[in-house]
Amino acid sequence: MTNTRNLKKVKIETYLEVFESISELPSIAQNLMTKAHEARENAYAPYSRFKVGAALLMESGEIILGNNQENAAFPSGLCAERVAVFHAGATHPNKKITSIAISARSLNHKVTTPTPPCGACRQSLAEYEINQKSPIAVYFMGESGKVAKANSVKDLLPFIFDSSYL
Ligand code: THU
Repeated sequence: MTNTRNLKKVKIETYLEVFESISELPSIAQNLMTKAHEARENAYAPYSRFKVGAALLMESGEIILGNNQENAAFPSGLCAERVAVFHAGATHPNKKITSIAISARSLNHKVTTPTPPCGACRQSLAEYEINQKSPIAVYFMGESGKVAKANSVKDLLPFIFDSSYL
């Protein structure tokens, strides 16, 4: 990872691929996104009415699901991506994650723009990507419309805080 501590100026450039719709994705990603859509519908989101689903593809081919789980004590809830990645960490320790698909739907309005993972989820995903020493591709979308793809969590989170700073 780039050590930015001694730099005076840093220009950040990132790169996303955008697909017109889910049907343009390669079939493995299409299947993963379909699983994310399905997982999304089981979200427990009575407060935000914003349902998110996440599907992780493990290198073994296994798929692990997550969705957002809210709570009356709002900060006690958790995002879909972290539910999924912590599930993977708990049940498949030391197994590599190849990619994650994220799908979001609001019960209030139609979501057609790709919904990126929040900062805390990017940070959590980065920990697994760094540990496994291989990139996790991140696909994200709304309930329909375009799908964005980052080839690595690093592309979504420049200046990752990792254990080397501790
Ligand atoms: N949410 C996720 O599940 N993932 C994200 O990356 C962004 C936000 C959830 C958290 C909360 O339950 C709802 O969406 C509204 O913020």
